[in-house]
Amino acid sequence: MSKVKTSFRVNGKPVDLELEPKRLLVSVLREDLGLTGTHHACDTTNCGACTVLVDGKAIKSCTMLGVQANGKEILTIEGLPKQGDMHPLQKAFIDKQGLQCGFCTPGMIMTCYWMLTEGKDLSDEEIKRMLHGNICRCTGYKGIVEAVKYAKEMLDKQEEAKQ
Ligand code: FES
Ligand code: FES
Repeated sequence: MSKVKTSFRVNGKPVDLELEPKRLLVSVLREDLGLTGTHHACDTTNCGACTVLVDGKAIKSCTMLGVQANGKEILTIEGLPKQGDMHPLQKAFIDKQGLQCGFCTPGMIMTCYWMLTEGKDLSDEEIKRMLHGNICRCTGYKGIVEAVKYAKEMLDKQEEAKQ
C-alpha cells in the first residue's frame, strides 16, 4: 500500500511522516513517535485510554487515522509538564487519589484537561457526564472528580498570583 506524506505538530513540535493510510493515530503516536503515554486498549472507542487533544478537542486516537492528523495540532500526556514540572492536573490526580493502577490515567487526564481549557461547568454531575467516555476499573471516579475541581482551584490561584 502506498504511503501518504503526513505533517502535523505533536506537543508543539513539527512531525513529518510517511504513513500507510490504514494506520490509527494511536499506533502512530506510540510506535512511530514513542509517545507511549497514550494507551491503546479496547480499540472499539469504548475505554478512552487513548484520548489526546486534536486542535484542542478531546479525541479518542483509536478512532482517527494517522493521515487525518495532517495539519493538526496534537497534545498528548507527554506535552502537559512544563520545564519538568507536572501540570497541576497531574499533581491533583496524585493528591486526590484519582488513580490506582494508572492505566486509564493518561486518557482520563487529557479529557479533564479539555474540560479545564474549555471552561466547562465543573459541577460533580457535569464532570461525571463529560467523563462518560473514559472508563476506570479501579477508582470509583470520586478521586477523579475531586482532582478536576482541585486542579481548577490551583490554576485559578496561579492566575491570581500573576495579576
Ligand atoms: S483504545 Fe481508544 S477508546 Fe479504548
Ligand atoms: S486507575 Fe486503574 S483503570 Fe483507572
